Amino acid sequence: MNGVPFITLNRFENGFKENFLNGVEELFNNTQFVGGPQVQMLEETLAEKTGAKFAIGCANGTDAIQLALRAVDVKKDDKVLCPDMTFWATFEAIVNVGANPITVDVNRETLHWDFETFKQAVDEFKPNAAIMVHLYGWASPDTQKIREYAASKNVVLIEDGAQCFDTKVDGKSVLGTAAIATTSFYPAKVLGASGDAGAVFTSNETWASRVRSLGNHGRTSHYSYGLVGFNSRIGAYEALFLNHSLKHIDARLESRRKAVNYYYENLQGLPLKPIKSADNVEENGYCAVAMIEPALRAALQESLKEAGIGTGVIYPGAMSMQEGADGYLAGKIDNGNAHYVSQAVLNLPCFAYMTDQELAYVVEKVKAHFAS
Ligand SMILES: Cc1ncc(COP(=O)(O)O)c(C=O)c1O
Repeated sequence: MNGVPFITLNRFENGFKENFLNGVEELFNNTQFVGGPQVQMLEETLAEKTGAKFAIGCANGTDAIQLALRAVDVKKDDKVLCPDMTFWATFEAIVNVGANPITVDVNRETLHWDFETFKQAVDEFKPNAAIMVHLYGWASPDTQKIREYAASKNVVLIEDGAQCFDTKVDGKSVLGTAAIATTSFYPAKVLGASGDAGAVFTSNETWASRVRSLGNHGRTSHYSYGLVGFNSRIGAYEALFLNHSLKHIDARLESRRKAVNYYYENLQGLPLKPIKSADNVEENGYCAVAMIEPALRAALQESLKEAGIGTGVIYPGAMSMQEGADGYLAGKIDNGNAHYVSQAVLNLPCFAYMTDQELAYVVEKVKAHFAS
């Protein structure tokens, strides 16, 4: 074995490519490029799969957050909480709608928001809205308590589920049970498109129709505009690709979860400690997450690289520390956890249909590193 990439997107099922390309030909022949039956089918399948009443496709996961923020009426100068440990798009989306981001630290064990810190942030900053982020294909184990507290304080809670398609908390779909949630279909996600795409999920009819309108120039009819929106429509080829992918999503997720479990079971007792989501969370296998003493991380990454094994660090820096946050950060709760996690987290290769040989090779090389 020559190595294992951190991620590869090329493990498609037999016939996937041919079926997709046949569909492309049909769309091409019908000059059906934006909207149309593939988009409708995608939205229906997404709603059915998550249990949300409405799923609205859009151009990418960042737009999805911006659409959700605007749909729930987050306005200029409003205060919006977001985790200090997330992808930059969450922070960016708040700024892009004119609101002021406040970063709130994560829990050092669960790597997500916990109820106590969220409550403290709501009580201290009295925000208009908050974006809870579910990273790594996990979810915050305190999701339900956070939702309830936000609702009791009139804080609109948006859930950035870019990484948690089909993740369940307390047995229920995160995306389907959130007041309003978003996802990304960036190709590297568990449900990835062949380009950029995203979606918003909600069971609130008013919010759903605002999302749909805002992402289509605020249209009420073709040349009438009820809102100032923008263009964030999903293309028909992306919808087609996602519709084909959805037929295989259960098998893809099962293979990812198998990889995560394999690392967990076979890498015990080492300085690199694989960790899994909390007991009340059913992860989707997006990421294999492990923690290591920060001082030991670079050497392990280097020796895995020499063995041809790719690793990742999701994410290497807290949001409040980013240069781009200067001038925008309106407050923060910083217990040092996001900073610690960014130095201690290490992600091992994880992608759909990893082979037993690939998994065994990664485990062998991790063990060999610590044995030497
Ligand atoms: C947590 C999180 N939020 C938002 C996004 C943004 O999604 P997109 O790249 O589709 O705009 C991503 C994608 O990487 C993400 O991981």
